[in-house]
Amino acid sequence: MSDISSENRIRIFDTTLRDGEQAPGCSMTLSEKLRVAKALSELNVDIIEAGFPAASPGDFESVKAIADRNFGPVICGLARCNAADIEKVHAAVKGADNHRIHVFVATSAIHREHKLKMAKDEIIKSAVGAIKMARELCDDVEFSPEDASRTELSYLAEVVSAAIEAGATTVNIPDTVGYTVPAEFDQLFHYLKEHVARINEITLSVHCHNDLGMAVANSLAAIGAGARQIECTINGIGERAGNCSLEEVVMAIKTRAEFFGLETGIDTTRLYPTSRLVSNITGMHLPRNKAIVGENAFAHEAGIHQHGMLQHASTYEIMRPEDVGLSKSNLVLGKHSGRHAFRDRVKELGFELDDFETNRAFQEFKKLADKKKDIYDGDIESIIMNAGSSSSGPWTLKSLEVQTHTDEPATATVQLIGEDGVEVSKSAHGDGPVAAAFQALETATGVDMILRNFELHSASIGEDALGEVTVTVDIDGQSFRGRGASVDIVEAGCRACLEVMNRTLRRRDRGESIGADTATSHATV
Ligand code: KIV
Ligand code: ZN
Repeated sequence: MSDISSENRIRIFDTTLRDGEQAPGCSMTLSEKLRVAKALSELNVDIIEAGFPAASPGDFESVKAIADRNFGPVICGLARCNAADIEKVHAAVKGADNHRIHVFVATSAIHREHKLKMAKDEIIKSAVGAIKMARELCDDVEFSPEDASRTELSYLAEVVSAAIEAGATTVNIPDTVGYTVPAEFDQLFHYLKEHVARINEITLSVHCHNDLGMAVANSLAAIGAGARQIECTINGIGERAGNCSLEEVVMAIKTRAEFFGLETGIDTTRLYPTSRLVSNITGMHLPRNKAIVGENAFAHEAGIHQHGMLQHASTYEIMRPEDVGLSKSNLVLGKHSGRHAFRDRVKELGFELDDFETNRAFQEFKKLADKKKDIYDGDIESIIMNAGSSSSGPWTLKSLEVQTHTDEPATATVQLIGEDGVEVSKSAHGDGPVAAAFQALETATGVDMILRNFELHSASIGEDALGEVTVTVDIDGQSFRGRGASVDIVEAGCRACLEVMNRTLRRRDRGESIGADTATSHATV
């Protein structure tokens, strides 16, 4: 990698924890955000947008916790153009050696008239005031004219000029609604380069949404036209159709280096583990044919392709699986595999566990190996992702018995152990085994819920693969997600459900009302 300040170096600004987390169903708990932030720093992203501190006290705390860990990348927080937001961002990010305040205001006619009800000059005034205030607190200030791609070009140039004069060090051009197309975006960047006097003194950035499936293509068009920062998210998570996918845009720049003549600082061998981490935490499973990190991205099934591959990999492969951190051997472990082999595999899969975490995961591995002959990478990932959360009671699942028969209601009996050692056993009927088991859990814990979604995913291959279940349930009118894993899918569902119920009971115990905490929780075999 050449000199960081080189004009060919693209900065990767990751917004998984802000724009990604904002997507419905993608919210994360504080500890999950810390894990993602650590993984992003190991991936070597340049900037982590850790959240929107003014959005809620929880958001503020998580941005602050990430900044205080000082993982290495610049830590950034988002603010509207007002003093309270800017002060909050500064208070949250200042613990990081390198921090940034990112202020934004919408500039398109549609937003000016219908959302902000502000005139063009009022918007410029508010942006300039906010940037100046942010610059008094911090040397590194980014400005975004929201919905830039639908803003009149001459007005956009005026806004960007004013932002630079006010002290913005990065100006980001968002395609907020995923409306633009590559050729048009190329023209927009060229227009700004021609019409904004001091544009070469700042870093020009791009931020694309994927509504028309062109977020990566549009981001590449922007860097072709001079942008030197790309805003993106792991697995492309984000509102609606998501944001520009980090792994796709980074691998496009690397694989087509001879075309772009550009480079990023990303350690691409961390892409796959980071993608798995984010998909496990958010419960957003990837389509099998997802570029770069999908299950089939490097699978060659067609006979003619396999033949070519055997002659020479480059016949049908433009990237090597190892380059994105996908291990070549899906090595199988089993009952007789020792701690050493397990620890080595965990490392190869890209996880950094301390001794305590390794021991805990190894115990889960041994339990699973008693139930299942071959343990694959997916099983190990599932164990690691879920290890340690099953202990956060008050209730633990001791046993589950289910009876089903075609055309007859199912019956389930759950046996739970409370923190104080008290055991409760409840039975219930239901249309199917899941309905019966969940009803029994509701009776046993006293927590009523409405099941909104039940998603089943196989962690590896084979009939005895570990089943990962994500449930979305409503409790007291709020939506919660929980995940559980087991070789028995009804049990995995019960673990997912019980984890959400336990969270509800803990919160009720603390006398807290239900807030906006819709984050995932995990439980395992
Ligand atoms: O999509 C968008 O416009 C944004 C801005 C806040 C950068 O996320
Ligand atoms: Zn966005």
